[in-house]
Amino acid sequence: MKPLSLGTPLSLSATKVMLLGSGELGKEVIIALQRFGVEVIAVDRYENAPGHQVAHRAHVINMADGAALRALIEKEKPHVIVPEIEAIATDMLVQIEKEGLVRVIPTARAAQLTMNREGIRRLAAETLWLPTSPYKFANSLEELLAAIDGGIGYPCIVKPVMSSSGKGQSKIDNADEVKTAWDYAASGSRVNQGRVIVEGFIDFDYEITQLTVRAIGANGETETHFCEPIGHVQVHGDYVESWQPMEMTTLALQRSRDIAKKVTDDLGGLGIFGVELFVKGDKVWFSEVSPRPHDTGMVTMCTQRLNEFELHARAILGLPVDTTLLKAGASAVIYGQFDEKGIAFQGLEEALRVPESEVRLFGKPESFKKRRMGVALATGKNTDEARERAKLAASKVIPIKV
Ligand SMILES: Nc1ncnc2c1ncn2[C@@H]1O[C@H](COP(=O)(O)OP(=O)(O)OP(=O)(O)O)[C@@H](O)[C@H]1O
Ligand SMILES: [Mg+2]
Repeated sequence: MKPLSLGTPLSLSATKVMLLGSGELGKEVIIALQRFGVEVIAVDRYENAPGHQVAHRAHVINMADGAALRALIEKEKPHVIVPEIEAIATDMLVQIEKEGLVRVIPTARAAQLTMNREGIRRLAAETLWLPTSPYKFANSLEELLAAIDGGIGYPCIVKPVMSSSGKGQSKIDNADEVKTAWDYAASGSRVNQGRVIVEGFIDFDYEITQLTVRAIGANGETETHFCEPIGHVQVHGDYVESWQPMEMTTLALQRSRDIAKKVTDDLGGLGIFGVELFVKGDKVWFSEVSPRPHDTGMVTMCTQRLNEFELHARAILGLPVDTTLLKAGASAVIYGQFDEKGIAFQGLEEALRVPESEVRLFGKPESFKKRRMGVALATGKNTDEARERAKLAASKVIPIKV
């Protein structure tokens, strides 16, 4: 293996990394990279995104526009591209990777497969034979009704094939609700309007994110490392609370990690993955995977020796990783509560008086009622105490219009 070297930013020797998507997760990856003296170029669809504010250079482009993406990559000539979001012209990334211009994290194929629920679901269920919810795809209301009547049954969940954070997603309990779900999915879809996945509802006991890191080991081979499992609560498909470690049976944890290993082995490359799993007793179902840091993994900013962003940065750069958990902890989301630009936050002094708490405000220029604007973190003697503290701290932070 070539000896690794990291250059000096803003010089000819610079090691250059481009983030595609510069939200709160990207911002933390950028900070972790900056600490190794990496030159970071942050890209997002709007100005002053969180990651823009901490990068060497910032660009605003439509990342779903392949030509615009290529032009920017050719201009900036990064060594590595780190996708932070799903809505990217991933076919262009595949082409650019093939031309040898740049390395995509973890791989361009992984970005392509996971941007569309169909790609990753078919890989997981039909190629890797992982346990998943029953599912079907539909292109019209009629096809959707036929899929449900043909075996998926009620209750079930309808999701646009391209969407995230629960957008356009609904649970339906009977035939009367199918049309509303179809219409909602079409409105919440990111790109390809009018194709949905319908999944049988899994009545799980709890759900976890199994953070999984592919990094280079001492012998030069890629190794797989697991973080302690993260438990979380989702409301309308969006995470509101997470904690680590999630208490699980030995068998359920083993099965979770076997699934995580299989899917990340197939996706390949280097970096962290958030493998989402549903658990009931000892039974485990694969749900989906992010080939990048996971929002529920923000809890690692207070629990692990190296948080998920530092693990990603290290793995990307070919450096050793350490997934050690130091303390039980939790995270609780702070929402904007207003549709407004340039909001302010009060109550930080109250929030930070909660024992062992921390608050991160992302600096997003525009708030929406349900936009994630910050997160409260807390540790404790166990996850119950940590969850109480994180929720209390989050509740003390009050968004205001100025
Ligand atoms: N088949 C299912 N059975 C039961 N619950 C489900 C099912 N599919 C999704 N959910 C619930 O909805 C949540 C969001 O679903 P999913 O992860 O597929 O959506 P998403 O839009 O990709 O969300 P995110 O981007 O936040 O991960 C899950 O974490 C789970 O709580
Ligand atoms: Mg999810």
